[in-house]
Amino acid sequence: MKPLVVVNFKTYKEATGANALKLAKICSRFRNSIICVQAADLYLAKKIKIPVFAQHVDLVDYGQFTGFILPEDVEAEGAKGTLLNHSEHRLKFDVLKKLVQRCKKIRLKTIVCAKTAEEAGRLSRLKPDFIAIEPPELIGGKISVSTARPSLISDAVKKSKVPVLCGAGVHTGEDVKIALKLGAKGVLVASGVVKAKNPARVLRELSL
Ligand code: G3P
Repeated sequence: MKPLVVVNFKTYKEATGANALKLAKICSRFRNSIICVQAADLYLAKKIKIPVFAQHVDLVDYGQFTGFILPEDVEAEGAKGTLLNHSEHRLKFDVLKKLVQRCKKIRLKTIVCAKTAEEAGRLSRLKPDFIAIEPPELIGGKISVSTARPSLISDAVKKSKVPVLCGAGVHTGEDVKIALKLGAKGVLVASGVVKAKNPARVLRELSL
């Protein structure tokens, strides 16, 4: 089975506005991939054939919550899931717990990020669809979690009660191979794809 490749568009210029559609179309050639986009770009869910996730949703209800991201609206726009607790958008445990439950109720899948293996174990008890282990210091760099922190991946896999993805610095097929060998089901990647000269070539390589 091919590895799952989750591409986080973040707020990169290459992956927002008109560029988001361009990159989403490239990603959609890889059926093992999922993209995580800005709330303003969730319209992509109705345009492309791979799952589109929100990068975050808020624990707000219908009503007077200007500027927040309502999970139900994300689902109605066609998104299949959401990232939660990314190290660039951390959430308190109680909020996360309620959000995962809420997303389950409306069939929005969740990928919950963790910084340490212990946190991966603890957060996996909330029963998200995936835990994504990412050491923050390697995010956006050229050295991958697979080469610099392999034991973090295997420890997270050991402690987690749900499937694990890993991310930070992932650029190559070799990074993915190591991650799979250590028990991960796939990778969470941003700059390696978004900022690549040829994102399709990188996606092909990451897809093994
Ligand atoms: O969400 C994925 C991310 O934090 C990893 O970023 O740029 O190191 O692939 P990057």
